[in-house]
Formats: sequence, C-alpha cells, structure tokens
Amino acid sequence: MTILVTGAAGFIGFHLSKSLLKKNIQVIGIDNLNSYYDVNLKKKRLQQLKKNKNFFFHKIDIQEKKLLNYFKKKKIDCVINLAAQAGVRHSLKDPYTYINSNILGHLNMLEFVKKKKIKKLIYASSSSVYGGNKKLPFSVEDRVDQPVSLYAASKKSCELISECYSKLFGFQCIGLRFFTVYGPWGRPDMATFIFTKNIINKKKIKVFNFGKMKRDFTYIDDIIQGIEGAITCSKKAHTIYNLGNNNSENLMDFIKTIEENLGLKAKKDLLPLQPGDVPETFANIKTSKRDLNFSPKTKISVGIPKFIQWFKEFYNLE
Ligand SMILES: NC(=O)c1ccc[n+]([C@@H]2O[C@H](COP(=O)([O-])OP(=O)(O)OC[C@H]3O[C@@H](n4cnc5c(N)ncnc54)[C@H](O)[C@@H]3O)[C@@H](O)[C@H]2O)c1
Repeated sequence: MTILVTGAAGFIGFHLSKSLLKKNIQVIGIDNLNSYYDVNLKKKRLQQLKKNKNFFFHKIDIQEKKLLNYFKKKKIDCVINLAAQAGVRHSLKDPYTYINSNILGHLNMLEFVKKKKIKKLIYASSSSVYGGNKKLPFSVEDRVDQPVSLYAASKKSCELISECYSKLFGFQCIGLRFFTVYGPWGRPDMATFIFTKNIINKKKIKVFNFGKMKRDFTYIDDIIQGIEGAITCSKKAHTIYNLGNNNSENLMDFIKTIEENLGLKAKKDLLPLQPGDVPETFANIKTSKRDLNFSPKTKISVGIPKFIQWFKEFYNLE
C-alpha cells in the first residue's frame, strides 16, 4: 500500500508517517517546509523519517497547480492532506496564507485525487469550525456556520468543497476535526510547548480569558489511531468525524500539570479572550468510535510528562 501524506514534516504528519512506515506502508511525504515555526524542527522530524527506505520526501507546495503533474506513474492508494497554515490567532495577521494553503491547496489535492482516480482522501479539519457554539459536547451534527476566525472559515470551506467533490466524482472522502493535539515533537506555537518553554526559562506565560478556558486536549498517539481508523473505514460517502479526547480540561489544571511535572511554578499573565479564540472545546466522539474504532486513552497526567521528557531531550536540558 502507498499513502501520500501532505504536511509530512509537520507535527501530525510526522507521527502519522512514522506509524504507517512501522506497518510497512510506503509513504510519499510532501511539505513546503515553510518558516511559520522553526524549520529546524521540521527538518529533524524528516531526518527521522528518512531513516526508513519506504519513505520518499518531496519539497512541494500544495498551492501550486504543477503538483497535479507529479507522481504520474506511481500508484497511490490514499491521500492524507494535513498540509495547511495552522494557528487561529495568526490568521488575523496573515489572512492570504490561509486561503492559499488551506483552500487552494486543498482544492489542488482534490483535483489530484480526481485526476489520478485515487479511491480515498482523508483531510484535516479542526474543532475551531464549532466557533462559539454553546451546546456541548460539540457534535458533527451541530451547525457550524458561524466561524470566529479565518482559520476556522478555511477549514469549514474545505469540508464544503470536499462534500461537493466526493459527490460529483465518486471518491471516498473523510474529514477529521482534530481537537488541540499535543505530544512529543509538538508545535512551538501551541500552548503545551510555549508554557513548558517559558516556565523553564522563568518567563511569564500568557493565560487568556483570565484562565477561564477549557480544552479537549488530545494526545498525538490517540489522533494517529483515529487517522488509521479512517484509512481502513469503508464508508463510501463524504463523512466528517471529531477526533478529540472527549474530556474537556480546565486550562488552569493543564498548567498545574505542567508545573508539577517540571517542578517549577509558572508566572502567569492573566489576559482577556483573544479575537478568534473560543472559551471551550469538547468533542462528542460517538460516530468516530463507531466507524473509526477511535478510542482515545491518554489523560493529560500521562501525555504531559511524555511531552516534557521529549522537550528536555530535544533541547539538551538535562
Ligand atoms: N495540531 C492541532 O492541534 C490541530 C488541530 C486542528 C487541526 N489541525 C490541522 O491538522 C493539520 C496538521 O497540523 P499540525 O499540527 O501537524 O501542523 P504543522 O504546522 O506542524 O504541520 C503542517 C505542515 O504543513 C506544511 N505546509 C503548510 N502549508 C503548506 C503548503 N502550502 N504546501 C505544502 N506544505 C505545507 C508545513 O510546513 C507543516 O510542516 C493541519 O491541517 C492543521 O490545520 C491541527
């Protein structure tokens, strides 16, 4: 089996590629290695993947139409589109990257799948599509037409375009709404990384909405298990699933767990809710359990120490 993974140098793409390679699946990895965060971290992830002879990397930007001409002779069984401009807050500063990488890029991947007659496309959506919805937990049946950031709007657009392509051209399409993913090799722009780094360096951490935030933090291994469930899922129509831990944590408890594991106290800067941010996320995973066999197991008390151990090793802190 050969799977094409876009965003392979990214946090989730790296872990997914690693897990697929372990199962003897051939992986074609694509990434443009952009500098949204430390490129060195992306290169180090790729170094790990390149140790496996079944991994083939291509530095390609999915926004570019010439992508459609690549891999002409290669048989690809499934495409997993994870490449995107991530980050909710950054979408207020740099809106065009979200339209280009997320919407145009996703359209190119759909065209690629259509042209090459590939049977299945799995793609990353996000819990942010639920916007400020008050009904909890968030269910895939809820309305999601009131996004509060351009990032969320770009992900919702991908879902709509995928629905249309899947119907028109008859390939299987699965959209996965990820809920705050964390773990080793995680993203430097996300809370787990920033809090750990700043607490170690005795710098202040910004705590938005004065700490009154709740997040369904989902450990990376659980997310990978869910994506792999989507690879084997035989449902034909375009379907969307939540991949979340089904356990909404108080932000203050999350910070406390980091503090306890570091043996250090955080200096907190309590600030109002940021534009684009939502106060709470919580995933209803009934259909993901049923169709993808998704079963998240990792509590933050288990996942955070694993992240901290990786962080210290990676940055030679002990
Ligand atoms: N990490 C999370 O908590 C989370 C939550 C919800 C959704 N998601 C989505 O999951 C996917 C993976 O997220 P991640 O956390 O691994 O992010 P990431 O930024 O670590 O990975 C994305 C990768 O895509 C690459 N990329 C960006 N634009 C590209 C383009 N135009 N062409 C080719 N490559 C490009 C980047 O260089 C990066 O390596 C993204 O679509 C993201 O929006 C992530």
